[in-house]
Amino acid sequence: MSWILRESLRPPFARTLTTEFALIVSLALIAGASAFAADERNPFANDPKAAKAGEYEFRINCALCHGLGAHGGGRGPDLTRAHKKHAHSDAEMFDVISNGIPGTVMPANGTNGQGVGMTGEEIWQIITYIRSVEVKASSNSTGNIEHGKKLFYGDANCSLCHTVEGKGGRVGPDLSSVGGSRTREAIIDSVRNPSRRLAWGLTEPTKEFPQEYETISVVTADGKELKGVALNEDNFSVQMMDASEQIYLLEKDKLRSFKKSRESMMPIYKPDLLSDKDLDDMVAFLISVGAK
Ligand code: HEC
Ligand code: HEC
Repeated sequence: MSWILRESLRPPFARTLTTEFALIVSLALIAGASAFAADERNPFANDPKAAKAGEYEFRINCALCHGLGAHGGGRGPDLTRAHKKHAHSDAEMFDVISNGIPGTVMPANGTNGQGVGMTGEEIWQIITYIRSVEVKASSNSTGNIEHGKKLFYGDANCSLCHTVEGKGGRVGPDLSSVGGSRTREAIIDSVRNPSRRLAWGLTEPTKEFPQEYETISVVTADGKELKGVALNEDNFSVQMMDASEQIYLLEKDKLRSFKKSRESMMPIYKPDLLSDKDLDDMVAFLISVGAK
């Protein structure tokens, strides 16, 4: 069913079918659940019951990448942002969820190892859910972009660890797109409470399970203490980068001690260190870059 559903969404295909076969296909479509797909408008818009059902579907099919609550996570962007890159209208969102986004890991419906895929009805329910958690007008920041940029590369030291538009350090994630994929509130939370939700390493989209930015502390055989972020880890070895961007490949059984923690390498920026106003300016800077 889901195959027919997808095909039905491609207008060129539909238009070239002028034979009897087309009639049979369209009759089959009308008879099936995918009758919903022909709709441009969400038949369940603002229906709280449909949002609930959509939330359940979302957890099974989407949360792995888009995070619980659609707040972004593994590899997918935060879908609670009102401003979307591809899926502006409900119809566009239906298309994205049905067909995926070519050239990215965003999968087409039914191709994510979840069996037969979702019906048109279920997709509309998920869209109802996503619309229900969107944070309206959250990027209406009043911050001063120029001042935020100055702080980022200057006094606040963010660029010691983070790159934006090719400039800066590599211990933390590249923040060039964070303003386009996460909400203002989520970015602020990452600065005020870095350990609450650790960022994921997005540098290797082909990796089956992307690595979180966990912190590794080791003591080597000769007594040297090292601390850094985990780049790669298996049962026997760990690859890490310390604050000066030195990369180490260590064999675990040769270490005197090995500790992994979910305490972020990023310092906690309390309001006495970085005022709300300055943070607002910096977020405005990141959002302006992310919107490019
Ligand atoms: C394997 C990871 C993965 C899974 C599973 C996944 N997505 Fe995505 N999704 C992505 C990525 C990555 C993008 C961003 C692609 C890009 O623009 O680079 C994306 C983009 C989107 C967008 C467009 C966002 C925008 O700004 O326009 C929507 C909507 C979306 N996904 C919904 C879903 C839904 C609903 C599900 C579950 C049915 C789902 N995704 C499952 C990875 C995933
Ligand atoms: C000593 C290095 C270091 C400094 C300095 C630092 N960060 Fe971080 N930052 C990290 C690391 C490591 C992570 C990944 C772990 C985590 O999520 O806390 C991170 C994560 C983040 C995230 C989450 C990114 C995501 O994709 O979710 C944001 C946003 C962020 N930092 C912003 C800032 C800003 C703004 C500053 C300056 C005020 C700053 N950082 C200073 C190391 C640093």
